[in-house]
Amino acid sequence: MKQTTPPPGSPRTYRVKSFGCQMNVYDGERMAELLEADGIAPAPEGEDADLVVLNTCHIREKATEKVYSDIGRIEKAGRKAGKKPMIAVAGCVAQAEGEEIMKRSPGVGMVVGPQAYHRLGDMVGKAAKGERSTDTDMPEDAKFAALPARRKVAPSAFLTVQEGCDKFCTYCVVPYTRGAEISRPYSELLIEAEKLVEAGAREITLLGQNVNAWSGEDDKGRSVGLDGLIRQLDKLPDLQRIRYTTSHPNDMTPGLIAAHGEVGKLMPYLHLPVQSGSDRVLKAMNRSHTAESYLKLLDKFREVRPDIALSGDFIVGFPGETEAEFEETLALIDAVRYSSAFSFKYSPRPGTPAATMEGQIAAEVMDDRLQRLQASLGRDQHAFNTAKVGTVCDVLIERKGRRPGQWLGKSPWLQSVFFEEELAIGDMVRAELVSAGPSSLAGRLVERAPA
Ligand code: 5AD
Ligand code: SF4
Repeated sequence: MKQTTPPPGSPRTYRVKSFGCQMNVYDGERMAELLEADGIAPAPEGEDADLVVLNTCHIREKATEKVYSDIGRIEKAGRKAGKKPMIAVAGCVAQAEGEEIMKRSPGVGMVVGPQAYHRLGDMVGKAAKGERSTDTDMPEDAKFAALPARRKVAPSAFLTVQEGCDKFCTYCVVPYTRGAEISRPYSELLIEAEKLVEAGAREITLLGQNVNAWSGEDDKGRSVGLDGLIRQLDKLPDLQRIRYTTSHPNDMTPGLIAAHGEVGKLMPYLHLPVQSGSDRVLKAMNRSHTAESYLKLLDKFREVRPDIALSGDFIVGFPGETEAEFEETLALIDAVRYSSAFSFKYSPRPGTPAATMEGQIAAEVMDDRLQRLQASLGRDQHAFNTAKVGTVCDVLIERKGRRPGQWLGKSPWLQSVFFEEELAIGDMVRAELVSAGPSSLAGRLVERAPA
């Protein structure tokens, strides 16, 4: 155990602001625990923190500009309060911009990349002495092993099993900011999962940029795929649900598909990004799957798990995308009937091949396509929710709702379900789904225990 009285000049309170994907949420939680292990407490709600960590995302839009304006805002609030908060920039913008942030923002004390944040404690120590530091290494040594044990665990917990990406889709910065694909060791993950469950997790979501590319070795040296890891986690008595995200169509294995029909705790939900329904665009994106091969893959999941909820990611306005090609994406959506999906306007990322491709699409065209795409996706999501009305399922209660007395949980298909009855975080209840809105359902308690 480290000391709990920080040396002079050290921050007493911190706040971590995470943007972007679930990996960042996980990293943000790990950084918070690391700071707490060093005796720094979370800043009370509504109060300025001595140390602010901006855990940034670089995947779309004007991410970098947003970071600079956030830094400005924190400094301004500090000046008003007569303080000079310590600022750390973490995450993918830190990785991509590195020293540039240090040059442009003298108020930033630390820049730390996603593969180096286990060293944040030392950097804070240096910053307390007025020393600024940048660490955007992608070391081979295990970041995870250097992190403190998990203490606070929500009923639905994340577990990063894989990081990085070797796919090099032509629009995407992830291979540059998160580095090459690596899998965390099997034995380490089993231990971390057990600890999560002991600490109260009832659902574990396995995370990775290409989670289904995860591979490990068991104690006899035999190779294990993601399905093997899931089957092992299925044996943890107090764990009730298993999920994983995000997958790549090319890394899907027959074993993982089969697991959806065989492993009771594996939830009937699959997030499988497709990006476009046009084979020409998919090729230009370097996706190395076609619309047809993607649809065939989904059919296999539906064969083993007919009720599976399907989700995806879409990009509209990739350079050169014609109206007819965009309509192929709409046709793919009509064929799949997603339960939910994420959709984005193409955003050129400096240093990626697509950023300099010819045929960049005008903003108005992208706006129009995104609107039409989201109308289709919204229609299907509402229909998916409506089809569940009148049925009974298990719901894991995750948090209070916005209205007093309201509770919010998740169905097996990852739908948000609201309750007006008195419940508690971590309850797994049997509920009737009584009405459906575009993005959530209302539930009525049938029994205070799962099926
Ligand atoms: N522009 C728009 N969307 C992007 N995504 C990744 N890179 C870009 C980009 N440059 C989307 C993809 C990916 C999701 C995480 O973000 O749909 O699956
Ligand atoms: Fe980016 Fe493609 Fe890798 Fe996904 S698979 S992280 S979109 S490069």
